[in-house]
Amino acid sequence: MSRILVTGGTGYIGSHTVVELMQSGFDVVIVDNLSNSSIDVLDGIEAIVGKRPDFANIDCSDYVAMAELFDKYHDIEGVIHFAASKAVGESVEKPLLYYRNNIGSLICLLEVMKAHKVKNIVFSSSCTVYGQPDSAHLPVNEDAPIQKALSPYGNTKQINEEILADEAHADKGLHVILLRYFNPIGAHPSALIGELPNGVPQNLLPFVTQTAAGLRKQLRVFGNDYNTPDGSCIRDYIYVVDLAKAHVIAVRRQLEKKSSEQVEVFNLGTGKGLSVLEILNTFIKVTGVDVPYEIVGRREGDIEKVWADPKKANEVLGWKAETPTEDILLSAWKWQQKL
Ligand code: NAD
Ligand code: WQD
Repeated sequence: MSRILVTGGTGYIGSHTVVELMQSGFDVVIVDNLSNSSIDVLDGIEAIVGKRPDFANIDCSDYVAMAELFDKYHDIEGVIHFAASKAVGESVEKPLLYYRNNIGSLICLLEVMKAHKVKNIVFSSSCTVYGQPDSAHLPVNEDAPIQKALSPYGNTKQINEEILADEAHADKGLHVILLRYFNPIGAHPSALIGELPNGVPQNLLPFVTQTAAGLRKQLRVFGNDYNTPDGSCIRDYIYVVDLAKAHVIAVRRQLEKKSSEQVEVFNLGTGKGLSVLEILNTFIKVTGVDVPYEIVGRREGDIEKVWADPKKANEVLGWKAETPTEDILLSAWKWQQKL
């Protein structure tokens, strides 16, 4: 059976992907420095799958440690690279930290992969590369222009995409799949793994669930004067388990050499845009729990509306995000209650 290295595999999206990979029969080794996740996540994965994934507490930018890992696991056939710092606001405060971690990690990983002749990498990119698409590009497909990033975090995703494309140009054996995620939400239906925000959540869903649980007084809805039907911002919220499944398909595609293109890009979204107020009201409706909120001013740097055209992923990968919003929100609530 093929072994896949999952960097950032104890993180939010990584842990759900490890579950799907293992349940699909892959051997996995996780590399994570636990800078934004807990070792206990391995217990959750083991409880779901019935087997503990191999794990190494290593920083991806530590060449020596990474090379030793590849020596030990000489059966690694592909890599999914989730490891990165991801807090947009923090990246504005500490840009060097973000450039060093997110770019240094990828360069080191590619160097080690090259030295060990590992030729397949799936990379976690983001819809942030599109910025605010103009109305002609909504829903946004993979051909929409990349726009100047609004944060150092967003810039690291753009630069990483370029590094991967340049390296693929130089190394004709390298295969790269860039997955541009929209807004991942929800938790595994078992409630054994889920999102573990550090401190005050910046993202909408964890803030909603923590407010519903009484941990926060009220949700602040950032703006109701946008050019959208109810005035609040629109996003494409995708279930983390659906997202995880797309990674299994991407890995198989590489191992089975299904594509002649060296670099492929896929949007991973539902194709449906939902406003902040729609998410909030649906959450209240399906859980029966009240979520106090107030409308406040706009948050700096927010995009007004963006949602995916996932046609390419649907047709080429044969993947579709199918979980109803109601079920996704219930999974997030079940996870919050467990916490
Ligand atoms: P996360 O913080 O939960 O997971 C990232 C993991 O990487 C963490 O466990 C962290 O400890 C680890 N890590 C960070 N730097 C490392 C390093 N140098 N060496 C080893 N491990 C390191 O984040 P997530 O939400 O699961 O995101 C995973 C990936 O998807 C990231 O690359 C992120 O930028 C990208 N992404 C996330 C979202 C989102 O909204 N969650 C959207 C688009 C793209
Ligand atoms: C969603 C909507 C907020 C919190 C960020 C990154 C992006 C990507 C995904 C990685 C917005 C509103 C939020 C709150 C609110 N990550 N909101 N009150 O901004 O789409 O994207 O995460 O690549 O790069 O920027 O996600 O969850 O922060 O916000 O009203 O307390 O919820 O204004 O409209 P966003 P989010």
